[in-house]
Amino acid sequence: EGAKPRLTVLGTGYLGATHAICMAVLGFEVLGMDVDEAKIETLRSGRVPFYEPGLPEMLQKALESGRLRFTTSYEEVAEFGDVHFVCVGTPQRKGSTAADMSYVDAVVSGLAPHLDRRALIVGKSTVPVGTAARLTSLVQSLAPAGTDIELAWNPEFLREGFAVEDTMRPDRLVFGVASDWARERLSAAFAPMLAADVPLVVTDLPTAELVKVSANSFLATKISFINAMAEVCEATGADVQDLAAALAYDNRIGGRFLRPGLGFGGGCLPKDIRAYIHRAEELGVGQAVSFLREVDAINLRRRARTVDLIRAQAGGSLAGVTVCALGAAFKPNSDDIRDAPALDVARLLQEEGAIVRVYDPQAMDNARRVYPDLHYASSVAEAAAGAQVVALLTEWDHFREIDPVWLGELVAKKAIVDGRHALDQFAWREAGWDYKALGRT
Ligand code: UDX
Repeated sequence: EGAKPRLTVLGTGYLGATHAICMAVLGFEVLGMDVDEAKIETLRSGRVPFYEPGLPEMLQKALESGRLRFTTSYEEVAEFGDVHFVCVGTPQRKGSTAADMSYVDAVVSGLAPHLDRRALIVGKSTVPVGTAARLTSLVQSLAPAGTDIELAWNPEFLREGFAVEDTMRPDRLVFGVASDWARERLSAAFAPMLAADVPLVVTDLPTAELVKVSANSFLATKISFINAMAEVCEATGADVQDLAAALAYDNRIGGRFLRPGLGFGGGCLPKDIRAYIHRAEELGVGQAVSFLREVDAINLRRRARTVDLIRAQAGGSLAGVTVCALGAAFKPNSDDIRDAPALDVARLLQEEGAIVRVYDPQAMDNARRVYPDLHYASSVAEAAAGAQVVALLTEWDHFREIDPVWLGELVAKKAIVDGRHALDQFAWREAGWDYKALGRT
């Protein structure tokens, strides 16, 4: 049992592709599987289907090693693997706050009938607590009689933009297991990390499932906490940046995830807290996490308040006003626009009659696809030309480095809203700009 297990990775999206590539680089034989032929072709040809710094180089390395292959066949996966990682998405269900479990259920149902020897299925996707137990019964009903298939849970904490780093050197590993055998198999699959002394928590299945949603809930709460303080600052003439800096010196609080601004977005934090509320209510403990509703509400309010500030900078009405919107991705170093605060603001501005010109260093293709009605520029200069208000909505370094004097010569009016507290307010004011940011007067 101690031998190096052969790994398969079901789902080659953000999480799955990164996991498959990194595990192959670490020396495992890996087979990545997806039902999307185009995605598999792209990966086979050595290209990563999304923007992630460092990952293309790792894919090259993995392919050259001969240890990484891709397929669209469940049969091949079942035949090849000893440990099968489930890495498909659990997005917010349409018309509901619950998680959409159809992709997870589909891969498990697709794989189980082909499994003909002892194997471990490891869930990595973020799921409602109780999923592993439900999938255990599903697998038992679908796998050939007499095959011993076990479920385990190994939540993934990687951040976009740092996916390779977070996968190779995670803060901690969590193994949710129901037997010693499963623990040993997982330990073998993560031997390189364990040898590097990555902290390990071994626990039961529901605890492992809960760790992930609890972690994301805590992070979301921290962001909404400082953004709630920003609202109070706005009413009193206080400065939330100075407030956050002073709080951060208390080690018990810490400065990370205490950056005020436009709030959180992305494919994880928003939908995870909503799904958690939904699941807790199903379990009869909704009250325990009802504060997360407030966390969500504070976060969404940031978008409306940012629009208010931009409207004020435009002189009270947005009708016919040209706004230069810097940023579309939900955060810098990503081309991901899922639940992106920046695009939500752009959309709201447009609804009020503004002409919104968007520029983002990486997320333009994705933004165009989902919001075809916004205007798109191919550079900061093009987006800013003749604009009456500039709004910084995603804090790319490229935007932080903008020279306010240079930009001042391109715009019609030197009015800026810094939605991410990314700029040096004194330098911008010095250059003649009317600089405004939420939580700061
Ligand atoms: C997050 C978790 O960090 C990660 O552990 C989990 O696996 C997936 O969800 P990610 O969605 O990649 O990762 O982004 P993250 O860097 O956490 O940022 C989330 C959002 O919060 C972004 O929109 C970011 O702009 C915002 N944010 C973050 C703030 O507004 N303030 C902060 O202080 C930190």
